[in-house]
Amino acid sequence: MFNSAWNMICDEHRSLAAVVQGLRHLVEECRRDSTTPDFKLLRAIVFYLDEFPQKLHHPKEDAYLFARLMDRTRAADGLIAELREQHASGSRYVEALHATLAAFEANEAKGLDAFSVAVDRFADDILRHMALEESALLPLASRHLTGADWVEIGAAFGENGDPRFVADADQAYADLFRRLVNLASPTATDAAGAGKKRRGRPDESRPTPGGHAAD
Ligand SMILES: [Fe+2]
Ligand SMILES: [Fe+2]
Repeated sequence: MFNSAWNMICDEHRSLAAVVQGLRHLVEECRRDSTTPDFKLLRAIVFYLDEFPQKLHHPKEDAYLFARLMDRTRAADGLIAELREQHASGSRYVEALHATLAAFEANEAKGLDAFSVAVDRFADDILRHMALEESALLPLASRHLTGADWVEIGAAFGENGDPRFVADADQAYADLFRRLVNLASPTATDAAGAGKKRRGRPDESRPTPGGHAAD
């Protein structure tokens, strides 16, 4: 059960990293090519980054993984305090994503820089956070948690239903992830770029985004 729970947590990290990489790619493309971004796709991504890590992944870590580890040892207390502070800062960075994306959509000429800064802050923060969990927290957990602890943790994370890895995931999320994975691939990036348009031109060629969640 230890391996199963560990793999679920790390799989969720991989999903989050893929979404963050896709978001960064979209922002870089917009800046490089002076294209109007697919705002519906950007809103779907930010919605996911709000819903999945902030409302499912991090709270499950707090309530199960961190809590059980604090029950078993004091050796992780300082690390857990640092990770919990990062969970809190992640919420603030997601709020900045929402705010700067709305401002960007309202004023394309002036909004990209602030949104780009917000994306980089969120991305740097969550990538550093997940790396710390995998390099420091999970090894401590593997030493101190019991088999029953891991069963409980695995059951909690099994309810999350990470849309990238669950066969019956919501179709909108499945489409979102497929699109982001394609964006991360150079050849697919070229294909995806066929639907983009220059900033300020009519909306005739905007591709239909996969996500409906942010509508
Ligand atoms: Fe975390
Ligand atoms: Fe995590």
